Amino acid sequence: MKVLNFGSLNIDYTYRVNHIVKEGETISSNGLTMSLGGKGFNQSVAMARAGIPVYHAGLVGEEGLEFYDACETFGIKTDYIKTVTGKCGHTVIQVDDKGQNCIVLFGGANQKNSKEFVDEVLKNFETGDIIVLQNEINELPYIIDQAFAKGMTIVFNPSPLNEQIAECDLGKVSVFIMNETEGQQLTGMTTPSTIISNMEANFTNAKIVLTLGKKGSIYHHGDDEFYQAAFDVNAVDTTAAGDTFTGYLIAGILKKMPMRQVLLMATKASALAVQKEGAAKSIPFMSEVELFNM
Ligand code: RIB
Repeated sequence: MKVLNFGSLNIDYTYRVNHIVKEGETISSNGLTMSLGGKGFNQSVAMARAGIPVYHAGLVGEEGLEFYDACETFGIKTDYIKTVTGKCGHTVIQVDDKGQNCIVLFGGANQKNSKEFVDEVLKNFETGDIIVLQNEINELPYIIDQAFAKGMTIVFNPSPLNEQIAECDLGKVSVFIMNETEGQQLTGMTTPSTIISNMEANFTNAKIVLTLGKKGSIYHHGDDEFYQAAFDVNAVDTTAAGDTFTGYLIAGILKKMPMRQVLLMATKASALAVQKEGAAKSIPFMSEVELFNM
């Protein structure tokens, strides 16, 4: 069984600010760092750090060569990462004094996937393999259809939620991992329990994980439902906390750990990630997660 993450690779330009800029306001930042991120890349890093061998598929622009070396370092297979002309995906991220962030995304190379490239990648995978997807790349509806047709198991983090999701056949997804805002937008419901009921009604056989930020997370599958509290830690930068949670969660499922342990491990991993600056570089190793105790 192989694991493929078909997802974004972004260069993150992170500005430290006292507060997130308001409409019409100009503020000075207290510092700028450039680092590697993208929801796709971050989730591959988290899976790799959790001990899951992962192939990453995606596109980088001319200034994205750093991703190849970084993947080597993180233990991510680069066979299906391709360089295309033009700019890499990148973001402008503001992180405030409380560690909260807001992100402006420029798709760049992440929006240049073609059906031919998707076919070229997927021909190397087969029934029983796992595909992990987020929503920062184009051709997502096609990828879902083709992966499903091959018998791959689809794990989907519908983030960030936009119009493209409406074109996706979500009935083909086996595991949904989403936050409360995404759950609200996807279902039109407003509370965690109604979001979950609606998801269950529409996607009966899927496992559903709903993250609630500082309030924790909920797992639901059939008759099995439980809540995992978050850890109250001092957050310096919440960027990639969700990706860390997602990557560790998938790793736990693939290792066939009991779901309560899986959610606890993912929660610990994201609690560690928020205590460090940056996206991919803030994601902890499994050894650190195992030592985490509160
Ligand atoms: O989830 C965090 C990620 O979202 C950042 O690394 C940024 O690239 C955006 O894609």
